[in-house]
Parts: sequence; C-alpha cells; structure tokens
Amino acid sequence: MEYSITAKEFQQFRTLIYDESGISLSDQKTSLLASRLSKRLRDLNLGTFSEYYATVMEDQTREEFTRLLDLISTNKTAFFREPKHFDFLRERILPELNTTKQIRIWSSACSTGEEPYTIAMTLYEGVQNPERWDFKILASDLSTRVLAKAAAGTYDEDRFREVPPDIVQRYFLRGRGDQTGFFKVKPHLASAITFRRLNLMDDRFPIKNPLDLIFCRNVMIYFDRPTQQTLVNKFHHYLRPGGYLFIGHSESLQWVTHPFKSLAPTIYQKER
Ligand SMILES: C[S@@+](CC[C@H](N)C(=O)[O-])C[C@H]1O[C@@H](n2cnc3c(N)ncnc32)[C@H](O)[C@@H]1O
Repeated sequence: MEYSITAKEFQQFRTLIYDESGISLSDQKTSLLASRLSKRLRDLNLGTFSEYYATVMEDQTREEFTRLLDLISTNKTAFFREPKHFDFLRERILPELNTTKQIRIWSSACSTGEEPYTIAMTLYEGVQNPERWDFKILASDLSTRVLAKAAAGTYDEDRFREVPPDIVQRYFLRGRGDQTGFFKVKPHLASAITFRRLNLMDDRFPIKNPLDLIFCRNVMIYFDRPTQQTLVNKFHHYLRPGGYLFIGHSESLQWVTHPFKSLAPTIYQKER
C-alpha cells in the first residue's frame, strides 16, 4: 500500500531535503517521494507523512534524517562508468604529473565506491612504477549507507560485467565459501582511498592541499542552478591552477557562471 501525501506535507519534505542536501524536488516528484517513503512509514507503523515528518525532526541523532535522504537520493553507479574520463586521466593528466609522481583526487559524490575504485585502478594501470607514486583519493558522499558499502569494498560479481577479467583479478579477491559470487577489493588498492561523509552543501571541506582533479558526476543534475553555481565555484577554490573538474555526461555548466575553461563537454580546467 502507498500512503497519500498532501500538498502541505510534500512542501515540508521538499524544504527540508533542499535545505540539507541541495536536492531540488519539483512538483512532479510528489508521487515519487510518496512511493519512496511509504515503506518506511509502514516499517515505523505510522499513519501519515506528517507523523513521519515529526519523527524525522524529533530525532536528535539525525539517523532518521540520513535514512530519509538515502531513500530519496539515487545512488546508481558502475565501475568504469563514462569511460572517457578515465581515458583522459590516464592519457592527459598522469603524464603531466610524472615529475612529481603525486596526485590528489576527490570523488565528491562517490556513492557505493565504484567511482573511486575505478579511479584507483586507472592510476595503478596508468603509470609504470605505481609504488613510486603517491596516490591519494578522497571519496565522499552524503549518505552513510552508501559510504559503508564503499568502504567495505565487496561487490557482487554482476557488477564487474563490463570490467576486463584481468583487471578484476589484479585488484579484487574472489570470495569463497559463503562469499562465493562476491569480490573484495585488495588492500593495496583500497589504501589509496579515504572515505568520508561530506555534504556538498557545506561551505568548506576538510581539504588542505590543492587538488589535481575533482569528480562530481551525476549529482549536480539534482541541484538547482544557484546551488550548482555555488558548488562549482567552491570546487574551483580547492583545485590547483591547471586542475580539472569532471561532471556527468548528462550534466552541463552551460547555464551557470564559473571561471573554468571548458576542454570537452564534461571536462573543465582551472586557469594555470
Ligand atoms: C547517482 S550517484 C553518482 C555516483 C557516481 N558519482 C557516478 O557518477 O557513478 C549520486 C550520489 O550523490 C550523493 N549526494 C546527493 N546529494 C549530495 C550532497 N549534498 N552531498 C554529497 N553527496 C550527495 C547521493 O547520496 C548519491 O550517492
């Protein structure tokens, strides 16, 4: 059974979600919101969306709020998704850094981890002596649920359908016994990545050294234009001169004011 939501209730949730995550829900998303939250209302034995709203607001631990965001946000991702970005990283960015052999990357809406692990595999595959390089990847997301999965680094073998078997073998361990059908990331790949909960709406991020590259893919599509504009200008601040920003293939910065140079439809560079 799906609960029905009143216009007032939808407005309450919409404001709460926007204020906290930047995710902007149009009126057309009313039934989507209702269907995504209905199961939660049932599990909590609640009768109306107003009761659920009160539950979220009264929860001092904010766990229910995190759960709400998990239910409404889309976490779809894949290994080597939108592969042109990884080609660009290997062919253009890595050769530029061959003298210092140091690279700092932020996967800023990393979902369940496929993106940062793909970045790490691209780095290991893309240089001659990876042990002489200093690779550091910060992988963050708003959702604690997806971050827990990302940090665990265990994936169903179906997730690797598009990944060449020799790559899987180099970077993942095949599960046995009750782990049959699963692969777990090898420690040397995982050690390049730090997972952290960060909200892209925050004014500041805990990043001390300028970054070479930021991935912000397939999340800005849920933000309105003013939110996108604030965000890309924050990214500009955290990049080194000449650093790069990758956005999702269905996204564009065409309608926002920003200081980046556009190199390709979804690849931007900070001036040198
Ligand atoms: C569709 S996934 C994209 C995953 C990956 N970047 C990719 O392209 O495959 C979008 C992610 O953005 C996260 N997200 C939504 N709002 C966010 C915010 N305000 N701050 C950080 N992450 C957010 C969601 O939790 C979700 O995991």
